[in-house]
Amino acid sequence: MGNCWGTPSTRVENAQNASEQSKATSKSGLSSAPSFLTVQSYSAKSASESLPTPRTEGEILSSSNQKAFTFNELKNATRNFRPDSLLGEGGFGYVFKGWIDEQTLAPARAGSGMVIAVKKLKPEGFQGHKEWLTEVNYLGQLHHPNLVKLIGYCLEGDNRLLVYEFMPKGSLENHLFRRGPQLLSWAVRIKVAIGAAKGLSFLHDSESQVIYRDVKASNILLDGEYNAKLSDFGLAKDGPTGDKTHVSTQVMGTHGYAAPEYIATGRLTAKSDVYSFGVVLLELLSGRRALDKTKVGIEQNLVDWAKPYLGDRRKLFRIMDPKLEGQYPQKAAYSVAMLALQCLSLEPKVRPRMSVVLASLEQLQVSKDVAKRLHTEQPANSNYIRKSPLRHAPSPLNLTPCRSPLPSLRQSPQVTR
Ligand SMILES: Nc1ncnc2c1ncn2[C@@H]1O[C@H](COP(=O)(O)OP(=O)(O)OP(=O)(O)O)[C@@H](O)[C@H]1O
Ligand SMILES: [Mg+2]
Repeated sequence: MGNCWGTPSTRVENAQNASEQSKATSKSGLSSAPSFLTVQSYSAKSASESLPTPRTEGEILSSSNQKAFTFNELKNATRNFRPDSLLGEGGFGYVFKGWIDEQTLAPARAGSGMVIAVKKLKPEGFQGHKEWLTEVNYLGQLHHPNLVKLIGYCLEGDNRLLVYEFMPKGSLENHLFRRGPQLLSWAVRIKVAIGAAKGLSFLHDSESQVIYRDVKASNILLDGEYNAKLSDFGLAKDGPTGDKTHVSTQVMGTHGYAAPEYIATGRLTAKSDVYSFGVVLLELLSGRRALDKTKVGIEQNLVDWAKPYLGDRRKLFRIMDPKLEGQYPQKAAYSVAMLALQCLSLEPKVRPRMSVVLASLEQLQVSKDVAKRLHTEQPANSNYIRKSPLRHAPSPLNLTPCRSPLPSLRQSPQVTR
């Protein structure tokens, strides 16, 4: 413990071992679960180059404006971490539902006060602690409607916990890939993409840029109205400063989402996040996981499988989520596919900035709203829509949802789910 930033050499070695152990074991039972990525650093650059404002653990904890909970308080708030309070499991630990008093933040009776999510890290040494501290550091300083709120933390003996606002709809991953939760309509998928893009734009365009480094469906959490918030800042990094173009760092992230040049060189830029966001766009379009070991051949890797269809308007339906049953505007789907294709460019410079991605996505919503307004304004039995100039406007968007020309079963070549 102590100073989290340590010397670069020990940081890489220790971090690699601890992380591989912890992350690889936690979800290994699931064949379609994401696999984690931890690769030796490619550069011996000092830690201070990638972290222009390193702060000690004491500095981070004292200035974070977060409540320091005792372990007992969180035990009481979660009814002793009862299994039926379990919200989910990640690579680093379990997340439980709990209740605290809104004013005093003291543990409250189940069902009263404010609902919280408590992440309890598995005791696993250096890397777990480092990511825990990184999260307290960033979420203690960054506040935005599209970033999950960190309410407090607990550091007691070997125990490391984080206390977040509760996100009632859980993660995007649960909605897209698990049986049970309500189907995400096309409109909600766009709303979620916009929320996540707002969060990323905020990080990238902040005065001191932050690279999130862990964009994936399980880290996009949803509130009661499907507003998306980014969670998990354990891998976040300060962006390059001065005339530097990138941050040289140990390669960490999740297979299937990480940008190829980052995996190959360890050079991290905001455009690495843009690539991962492109993968999430593909997941939203297709309803398939970035990596799915239950599939065969090229279909295991979503990017490899989907890329050839993205730029072809007539073939796009083949990769669209069959669960949508064709209920999506075809032109808007094509716009999102083209956007994903740009985000997934092999050349990072060609990828759009997140602010540009956001603007493109918002354009889809604007057009949809205009269409809706026209629809509600039109007098019954009029030709208003048909006469509207919008119908002939050069907008790339189809304004009304329409079915695919093919039956839903034939919309995707997917054989098994
Ligand atoms: N604030 C929250 N509110 C509600 N549910 C949450 C919250 N935070 C996490 N969860 C649930 O807990 C699950 C596990 O989250 P966690 O961040 O530990 O793991 P993960 O994102 O699935 O994997 P990784 O370890 O790679 O981050 C999430 O998928 C989500 O369903
Ligand atoms: Mg997560």
